[in-house]
Amino acid sequence: MSEATTLKGLVLAGGTGSRLRPLTYAMPKQLVPVANRPILWFALDSIVSAGVADIGIIISPETGEAIKQSLYAWLETQDDEVALTFIPQETPAGLAHAVKIAEPYLQQSPFLMYLGDNLIDADLKPWCDNFSSQSSISASILLKPVDNPSSFGVAVLDETGHVTRLVEKPKEPPSNLALVGVYLFRPNIFTAIQAIQPSPRGELEITDAIQHLITSGSTVRSEQQTSWWLDTGKKDDLLSANQTVLASLARKSMDLTPELDASNTVSGFVQLGENASLTNCTIIGPVAIGDGCHLSNVTLGPNVSLGASSTVIDSTLRDSVVLDGCTLKGVQLVNSLLGYRCTLTGPAQTLPPVSVSLAEQSVLHWGP
Ligand code: TTP
Repeated sequence: MSEATTLKGLVLAGGTGSRLRPLTYAMPKQLVPVANRPILWFALDSIVSAGVADIGIIISPETGEAIKQSLYAWLETQDDEVALTFIPQETPAGLAHAVKIAEPYLQQSPFLMYLGDNLIDADLKPWCDNFSSQSSISASILLKPVDNPSSFGVAVLDETGHVTRLVEKPKEPPSNLALVGVYLFRPNIFTAIQAIQPSPRGELEITDAIQHLITSGSTVRSEQQTSWWLDTGKKDDLLSANQTVLASLARKSMDLTPELDASNTVSGFVQLGENASLTNCTIIGPVAIGDGCHLSNVTLGPNVSLGASSTVIDSTLRDSVVLDGCTLKGVQLVNSLLGYRCTLTGPAQTLPPVSVSLAEQSVLHWGP
């Protein structure tokens, strides 16, 4: 049996999600959907595709139960056996803290760590297999060249590709290589975490632990991510993630445009759920329409994910993510993010489009 099969997975799905409020008052950010699938499911898919089938999930006291329920549903979509172990983290004390509390689960296994709010388009298997077969490498990090390195952890490499230095959100970035949020470690990361102190923001930083590995002479390598990487921590990031994932589904899909009755006009990629009914609609793909949605007199798209059991009447909607069970009547929305079961009504024709970000069950009415 190859050593690659012994890699465990560690997904960080705790944290506070403060940058995605108000949505995250009612739900964990890892479960916000893009193209009508929770972000976290994409992470799990990617880990399983890398050949990892034993995965620890860091959860918080506030959102752990919702994460569990969602991942039980994800498990039902899997053909092969995957073992999930939930690891409660009492406070969001940092990425390295999450690794520290996972030690009893990880034990002596090398592991693939994945931040549960990240979306990447990459086949991780060759990178994981290469790491597994080279026990002299203590850690390997996934990097992506970015235009705004000051917003991220940044890595400096020597001419042979070894990581020589990591800096967290540098004012004067020494390189444009950002840490993507996917890492490979061996158990000596636990010793490095023991040696570090909380940062000025009070968290045990994984960049400090990796820097400690480097300083104490361990080999840290990197891999560059060539396709897209999306951090979904904020509303605009999430909307562009939705756009990118829908576009990528459109590219990969062999499906023809679904057949709708002649009262509708459809162009581009449309992912249509079961029992959805559309009348007098103009659908401009890419869009995803969930199960049991009812649309009448609607212009939808491009770049819209409409959650299951939503009703949209006399409205226009583009570049938006709408969660399940929403009711929209007479509204024009752009760049909007709506939580579960929101109700929005208004006199659409008389007002310009608006952009909103609403928590679960919000009720909004425009006009008299
Ligand atoms: P972050 O986005 O760094 O932190 P956060 O979730 O607290 O978000 P915000 O800054 O908006 O408040 O976290 C990256 C991922 O790691 C995310 O999926 C949450 C998870 N995480 C943990 O599981 N435990 C932790 O202690 C921290 C800090 C994050």
